[in-house]
Amino acid sequence: MGKNVIFTLLTMLYFFIYVVTSFNSSTDGYALLAFKSQITFDPNQILTKNWSQGTSFCNWNGITCGTRHKRVRGLNLANMGLGGTIAKEISGLSFLRSLIISNNNFHGFIPDEMGKLSQLREIEIQNNELNGAIPTSLGFLENLQKLNLSYNKLIGDIPNKIFNLSSLVEISFGDNILSGSLPTDMCYNLPKLEMLRISTNQISGNIPPSLGTCTNLKLLSLSYNNFAGSIPREFGNLSNLQILYLGRNNLIGTSKALIICIHMHSIIYSKSCEN
Ligand SMILES: *[C@@H]1O[C@H](CO)[C@@H](O)[C@H](O)[C@H]1NC(C)=O
Ligand SMILES: *[C@@H]1O[C@H](CO)[C@@H](O)[C@H](O)[C@H]1NC(C)=O
Ligand SMILES: *[C@@H]1O[C@H](CO)[C@@H](O)[C@H](O)[C@H]1NC(C)=O
Ligand SMILES: *[C@@H]1O[C@H](CO)[C@@H](O)[C@H](O)[C@H]1NC(C)=O
Ligand SMILES: *[C@@H]1O[C@H](CO)[C@@H](O)[C@H](O)[C@H]1NC(C)=O
Repeated sequence: MGKNVIFTLLTMLYFFIYVVTSFNSSTDGYALLAFKSQITFDPNQILTKNWSQGTSFCNWNGITCGTRHKRVRGLNLANMGLGGTIAKEISGLSFLRSLIISNNNFHGFIPDEMGKLSQLREIEIQNNELNGAIPTSLGFLENLQKLNLSYNKLIGDIPNKIFNLSSLVEISFGDNILSGSLPTDMCYNLPKLEMLRISTNQISGNIPPSLGTCTNLKLLSLSYNNFAGSIPREFGNLSNLQILYLGRNNLIGTSKALIICIHMHSIIYSKSCEN
């Protein structure tokens, strides 16, 4: 009797674990099929043919799964000529670390729900046709190391919270239609930042002197915006800086920029720091 009860309980426990596990996996499958359903153009029939419900999604093109739990860790569909919108159901991929859909023709908004993907290390959605604002929710992605939103049609302010994500190493918002100004305290919590590219937007206001606190910066590109005021003396603290682009703004004392450029250690000096 006792043994049977234990056996029954173990069976139930096993079944429970099985249900929980398969529910999680089917959540990933569901999310991926929702993502596929909003892709309206697939010239090489990559998703149309390969992402078929009969096979495990871990074997689908562009998908990498974790070895133990078979949850989706990576979604890499760069350079596939895909067109469509990004389905909000992507937020179901709760183990996702890397989202790469660069160099395609995705349009529409970046879904707010993306901010729920707390495991994300990398977002590369550059070179698409995305419009609308950058969701404030991206400011919750505390593990984010690389964020590339460049070459889209994004408008509005850059959410300040993004500049408070201490894991960030590379940020690019370049070549969009972003406006507003940069927060004055922008480098107080970015100890690892090596690349910051905001060039070719419509950002105005002063260049925050606190940028001088991002001492790991190797590349800083702010050119082709509407920055005004002077170039902060604190830039002299950026001892790892190799490339600095400040040109095509409304900065005063641009000759000072030259001096800074030349004095900076190992700087690659280019076209009066313009590009
Ligand atoms: C299923 O997902 C939930 C949260 O989404 C998580 O807490 C749980 O550990 C997962 N279970 C398994 C077996 O992976
Ligand atoms: C999808 O592509 C992968 C990788 O090329 C391949 O291993 C798999 O068999 C393909 N699945 C289908 C259903 O075509
Ligand atoms: C910035 O991050 C720190 C810790 O990571 C947190 O305490 C602080 O409230 C954040 N500030 C803003 C403006 O989000
Ligand atoms: C972001 O994407 C652009 C366009 O593909 C690329 O040139 C750039 O190196 C990437 N990274 C950063 C940090 O700008
Ligand atoms: C940064 O530069 C300013 C002005 O040049 C200087 O007063 C300050 O001590 C420097 N800070 C650090 C941390 O080097």
